[in-house]
Amino acid sequence: MESYKKLLLQNKAWVSDKLDIREDYFRRMADDQTPEFLWIGCSDSRVPAEEVTGTEPGELFVHRNIANLVVHTDFNMLSVLQYAVEVLQVRHVIVCGHYGCGGVRNALSHRNLGLINKWLRHIKDVYRFHKEELDAIEVEALRYRRLVELNVLEQVQNLADTTIVQKAWHYHGRPMLHGWVYDLESGLLNSVVETTPGSAIDPIYTYDFT
Ligand code: CO
Repeated sequence: MESYKKLLLQNKAWVSDKLDIREDYFRRMADDQTPEFLWIGCSDSRVPAEEVTGTEPGELFVHRNIANLVVHTDFNMLSVLQYAVEVLQVRHVIVCGHYGCGGVRNALSHRNLGLINKWLRHIKDVYRFHKEELDAIEVEALRYRRLVELNVLEQVQNLADTTIVQKAWHYHGRPMLHGWVYDLESGLLNSVVETTPGSAIDPIYTYDFT
């Protein structure tokens, strides 16, 4: 059987499993979505948001890109963020990176990968911001792991620097921002940073709300 046909077959099996548990499963799901979380994760196939968090359809609003970046000119990510924060009114935004991230590894290298160089450039910037700390780590594998963590830290900061998040903090006291790292080898999620609404932001990035 061709591999893609297996996906369609598995879909049928999944539908029947769900209907076995609740016969109105899909009718209820079709009504509306009220997710409490926005997940910004890596596109890596080994880090499926719902699976690793044990969540069901309807619980996570998801945006994924290479190396889970929050780039302030990325209208795709910003549209997802704005919709999640302003319309869905999520209470938590989670940036989830992972050890063994190919995007981060390539950003540490000098490989010319074409278009993606421009995307990975944002991770090279993270490296530059933390050059002193990273260069002091002698074991390359550990330096790479630390850059994965620092990348998540910077992306959470990038979220806090948006008017979308600052406005929601000002008027609604949410969302809380989280930076997590998923460990491919253990399956565990580790928290790297937690930023509560109203946390201090570098003054140059703050906006006035009246
Ligand atoms: Co990755």
